[in-house]
Amino acid sequence: MGRGLEDKVALIAGGGSGIGRATALRLASEGARVFVVGRRADRLEGVVAEVAEAGGEASRLPVDLAADDGGDRAVDAAVAWGGALDILVNAAGTFPYTPVLALTDEDWNEAIAVNLGGVMRTCRAAARAMAASGGAIVNISSTNAVMGDKVSACGAYSAAKAGQLGLTKQFAAELAPAIRVNAILPGPVDTEMLDGWLDDPAERAGWMDRYIPLARLGAPGEIASAVAFLVSDDGAYVTGAVIPVDGGMTLV
Ligand SMILES: NC(=O)c1ccc[n+]([C@@H]2O[C@H](COP(=O)([O-])OP(=O)(O)OC[C@H]3O[C@@H](n4cnc5c(N)ncnc54)[C@H](O)[C@@H]3O)[C@@H](O)[C@H]2O)c1
Repeated sequence: MGRGLEDKVALIAGGGSGIGRATALRLASEGARVFVVGRRADRLEGVVAEVAEAGGEASRLPVDLAADDGGDRAVDAAVAWGGALDILVNAAGTFPYTPVLALTDEDWNEAIAVNLGGVMRTCRAAARAMAASGGAIVNISSTNAVMGDKVSACGAYSAAKAGQLGLTKQFAAELAPAIRVNAILPGPVDTEMLDGWLDDPAERAGWMDRYIPLARLGAPGEIASAVAFLVSDDGAYVTGAVIPVDGGMTLV
């Protein structure tokens, strides 16, 4: 028996790679029709082809979600393709390594534009599209929203990811009961976003042993599993929640 994802229209922001790609494949495998948006046309086309090869239905549009009209363009295109919108997953993001003492206004504006402004505008556009029929939204935040980290050095990212939690709770409060809105806090996940982060294998292993009780990186599919739970009927009584999927990184 399915758990209510059959024929649902799901928009995955940042669906061309990493966690977004894994989420698109996972939701499609449970019968959802997925619309992926992001910056890179070739990556989006690759995901659409992967979904089709697995027997699912998908489409895509390259959209810059840092732009003021990015959220509206993404949602309008998903609705035009799917005829409705039932699910939004915000997985687009950038992770600039900038120590706070070196943080320029330009770095700040860039990181906030996609990681916070883009998420707000996509949530707002999706909520308007879902208002009559209902739906579910998941924001992929980060453990950086709730803890400092000497190694990763990304104050603008942490501020944006913490801001996503405020947005998640406020949208959840205002939009219940029609629309459920939740956030996931991934710990370090094995995606392109970690390219250049602790490149030295010994240093990385030492960091894992020290900070991650489960002592390994997460897999993108492990975040997608949590998303699938939250947007399906299994998660029907969950809204405004902030769920760590982080190998235990934030357990203390
Ligand atoms: N990988 C990790 O360790 C980790 C940990 C915590 C949170 N996250 C969050 O998970 C989400 C997905 O990241 P990922 O790890 O899959 O990395 P990723 O780099 O593979 O995915 C990020 C995606 O966002 C897209 N994107 C970036 N800027 C964009 C823009 N302006 N417009 C449209 N698309 C844009 C990229 O093209 C990419 O496809 C991000 O929000 C990230 O902050 C990742």
